[in-house]
Formats: sequence, C-alpha cells, structure tokens
Amino acid sequence: MLKQDHREVEQLFKRFEKAGESAYRTKGQLVASMIEALSRHAAIEELVFYPAVRQEIPRLQSQVAEALEEHHLAKVVLKELEDLDPKSPRYDAKVTVMMEVVRHHVREEERDLFPKVRDRIGRRELLELGDALRRAKPRVPTRPHPDAPDMPPANLLVGSAVAVIDRARTAGKRAVEKARDELPTL
Ligand SMILES: [Fe+2]
Ligand SMILES: [Fe+2]
Repeated sequence: MLKQDHREVEQLFKRFEKAGESAYRTKGQLVASMIEALSRHAAIEELVFYPAVRQEIPRLQSQVAEALEEHHLAKVVLKELEDLDPKSPRYDAKVTVMMEVVRHHVREEERDLFPKVRDRIGRRELLELGDALRRAKPRVPTRPHPDAPDMPPANLLVGSAVAVIDRARTAGKRAVEKARDELPTL
C-alpha cells in the first residue's frame, strides 16, 4: 500500500515535469494534489508504520530518525508551495527540489527500509500493519505541518484535530476556486 502511494505521487511528479512552462493552472492543481497525497502518506507512516518499525526492529532507530527528517524537509517546502503563486519565478525550482527530496526518500524506503521490515516482521503482523495504515488514511491531516509532532503519542493527539481543520480549509479553497471559475471573463 505504501508503494502504491509512492507510485501515485510519482505520476503527479511526471505530469508536473511534462506540463508546459506557462501551464500555471495545471501546475497549481498538480501541486495541490501532491500536497494532499504526500501529507496523508507521511502522516500514516508517522502514525502507524515508523512506530511499528522502531518497536519491532530497534536497530533501525537511526534510519527511522533520518526518514522523519526527510519528511520534515519535504513538509517545509510543501508548506511554502501551498501559498506560492505558480507564476512566482521560484515556483518550479521549489517544486523540483521538493521532488528530489521525495524521490531520494522513496528510493531509500523501497530499497532499504521496506525489505528489512519484510524480512523481520511476520506475515500476519504485516497484514495487520497494512490494515491499520488503510484505516488511518481517511482520518489524517491533508496539509503539511512541519512544526507539528511526528512521533506518538503526540502526533496521534494533535493529528486528529488538525485533520478536521485541514479538510475544512481544503474544502473552502475548492469553493473559492469554483466561484472564480464561474465568474464571467471580461
Ligand atoms: Fe516516508
Ligand atoms: Fe513512503
């Protein structure tokens, strides 16, 4: 399931790379999708997956710590992108750097972390883990919060309240965009 998320995000990255220089609207929409997908993905890993890895395989502590720092970096840039106009001269550069951070992170997870976890955690536990990830996904924050706690129990408590506010804000933004689209062009 985590790999499936990675593939979906990679598709968004590819579409961004193929979008024309002045396809501002498309690029803005793609980045909004990246923000939501990556926020959810990071949150379920931080809530369910990384804590399980730390608990079951203590020698992977430092690798998980590094993963959390990479999440943090990505969130910082995603948060800036959230409020940046796609026409800004720094927009494409910022997206490119964010994509580099995420691609590096995904490579490390898939080549190194996931295989180790698969070797050390039993099949039944892995299935339970998958189930917990799936159940968490609809309830986690949909926006980046680089300053919020990313380890249990604090992320559990703060995360669920934040998720409600995020969804309200995302819905509000969509309503504003829709209204703008419906305005007659002069
Ligand atoms: Fe991750
Ligand atoms: Fe991941």
